[in-house]
Amino acid sequence: MEYNRCGKSGLLLPQISLGLWHNFGSVDNFENGENIVKEAFDKGITHFDLANNYGPIPGSAETNFGNILKNNFQGNLRDELVIATKAGYKMWEGPYGEWGSRKYLITSLNQSLKRMNLDYVDIFYSHRYDSNTPLEETMMALDYAVRSGKALYAGISNYPAEQTNQATEILQQLGTPCLIHQEKYSMFVRTCEEGLLDVLEDKGVGCIAFSPLAQGLLTDKYLKGIPENSRAFNPNGHLQLEEVSDEKVVKIVALNKIAKNRNQSLAQMALAWLLKDNRITSVLIGASSVGQLNNNIDSLQNLDFTLDELNEIEQILK
Ligand SMILES: NC(=O)c1ccc[n+]([C@@H]2O[C@H](COP(=O)([O-])OP(=O)(O)OC[C@H]3O[C@@H](n4cnc5c(N)ncnc54)[C@H](OP(=O)(O)O)[C@@H]3O)[C@@H](O)[C@H]2O)c1
Repeated sequence: MEYNRCGKSGLLLPQISLGLWHNFGSVDNFENGENIVKEAFDKGITHFDLANNYGPIPGSAETNFGNILKNNFQGNLRDELVIATKAGYKMWEGPYGEWGSRKYLITSLNQSLKRMNLDYVDIFYSHRYDSNTPLEETMMALDYAVRSGKALYAGISNYPAEQTNQATEILQQLGTPCLIHQEKYSMFVRTCEEGLLDVLEDKGVGCIAFSPLAQGLLTDKYLKGIPENSRAFNPNGHLQLEEVSDEKVVKIVALNKIAKNRNQSLAQMALAWLLKDNRITSVLIGASSVGQLNNNIDSLQNLDFTLDELNEIEQILK
């Protein structure tokens, strides 16, 4: 594993990070999740990404992660981990259980720390932009989270380019620079190329790309239909059946051919394709098995593309 500097900060993040959105909830097999986290750490993945609402049930991924830490990462091993959590989406009933108010963000962070049994998280994110709350209030809550020692760094996620620009300026003025932006980015979802990545580069903010495999579409999983052990088939999965469209499958098959010629799996090529851009600090993967995790980590053995390969990929993605 190599470690990339996160924007212009002092923090290094692994090229591949592990997210606990799926496969770590109370509905999932705990030992499987525990084995994935242990294997990830053994392979040099130091960064684990959570959010208040990950489960299902919401909160249970944090509770399970806390138990994984208790079972396997005692003592100084905590110091070798970069743990992130977020608040933004609906977590509890009433007017204070979602969006971007200081009330919600700080209360939620306290709840997350309790669930994970941690004194602090390394990164605390505002999970989504809230146009009804002054940006200053949300950024002041992130600043407070850092100053109070509950978080070491502040991050934002799913913020459009313009609001990202404003948020980083406010945080700069407050004296807590924005460390990182977490954005959906894959061969299939490229919105951040339309301005956000330029803002991040300009402001010296790192970028961690989530759902880099488009929730599993950019793997060999759906080449021959929709298997039962897939996120699309799983009623708790966020990949909708209709997203596995005929049009997508044609592209997946064509991309898979290029990957094969590179002696890579499609998942490996999809991750390498993102990591070729040095504005991408880390790719934030999910995995439902240790085998998938290792397959994805092996992408790091070939991150180079020929011009022909890149052009061919662009033709397919058009
Ligand atoms: N900030 C945000 O708003 C936001 C939103 C979404 C996600 N995230 C973060 O990003 C993380 C990753 O998101 P994601 O899980 O959607 O990422 P992803 O890497 O695009 O998809 C992961 C899924 O793809 C399948 N897969 C992975 N590797 C495979 C392989 N080698 N071969 C075949 N199938 C493979 C597995 O699904 P199967 O179940 O089908 O096996 C796996 O659970 C989340 O855990 C979370 O931390 C953040």
